[in-house]
Amino acid sequence: MAILDKHKVLEKNASLLLVFSFLVVTIGGLVEIAPLFYLENTIEEVEGVRPYSPMELAGRDIYVREGCYVCHSQMVRPMRDEVERYGHYSLAAESMYDHPFQWGSKRTGPDLARLGGRYSDDWHVQHLRNPQSVVPESVMPKYAFLERRMIDGEYIEDKMRTHRLVGVPYTDEMLENARADFEAQIDPYSDGADALLERYPGAQLRNFDGQEGISELDALISYLQMLGTLVDFSTFEPVANR
Ligand code: HEC
Repeated sequence: MAILDKHKVLEKNASLLLVFSFLVVTIGGLVEIAPLFYLENTIEEVEGVRPYSPMELAGRDIYVREGCYVCHSQMVRPMRDEVERYGHYSLAAESMYDHPFQWGSKRTGPDLARLGGRYSDDWHVQHLRNPQSVVPESVMPKYAFLERRMIDGEYIEDKMRTHRLVGVPYTDEMLENARADFEAQIDPYSDGADALLERYPGAQLRNFDGQEGISELDALISYLQMLGTLVDFSTFEPVANR
């Protein structure tokens, strides 16, 4: 056949074969890579994932400031031992609003990606004050000072604005109400509670550290208690199975 005869030319000339192989790989590469530059988002959207509420965001900043990531990862790998220990493996969407991400590769302590709801607030207060009081062999440092440091959310709107700059979809309404939402989260009976829940579905409202006022401990625990709780895995199905 004529076309096979032409192919013979390529097969018999190594340099020519090299040139054409290079061409084929280049085209293949372009087809795969070029669209990534035009797609706005390569992360599959998952129901329930939302930006952090103002208080959770403040807590997350404390988590980063204190270097909790030095000993804790936040990504359940899709392997059987991990899934049996921690719960459903992490989805890309679950950290899509994390700047910077907290996946981590060092586990002096356990992974925290599915921590939310595993312990009571009281347990967290005790554990953060003095980890050895609940886990005697723990090497985790004490963070008792967090409950004495009060915060008022003065800069929370600026913080959210910065996150919006890097792609977190905070709306104007969320920014305008940043401080009110911040304060409402430790007060489930306040006027702002319903509005907060509407803006941040699934947010947990209560006085996390049990003492008056808003402390850094309140913010940190509000963050720890929501980790891994946004996606309902009793109804979630990966795209491939749909
Ligand atoms: C020096 C390493 C280290 C640092 C830093 C550290 N931890 Fe830990 N963490 C551990 C270890 C070890 C454990 C396991 C023993 C225990 O429960 O105390 C642990 C356990 C935990 C647990 C219980 C997890 C579970 O599933 O049982 C939580 C929650 C936690 N740490 C939160 C934090 C937070 C929040 C910070 C930052 C404020 C932090 N840790 C900083 C080492 C660390």
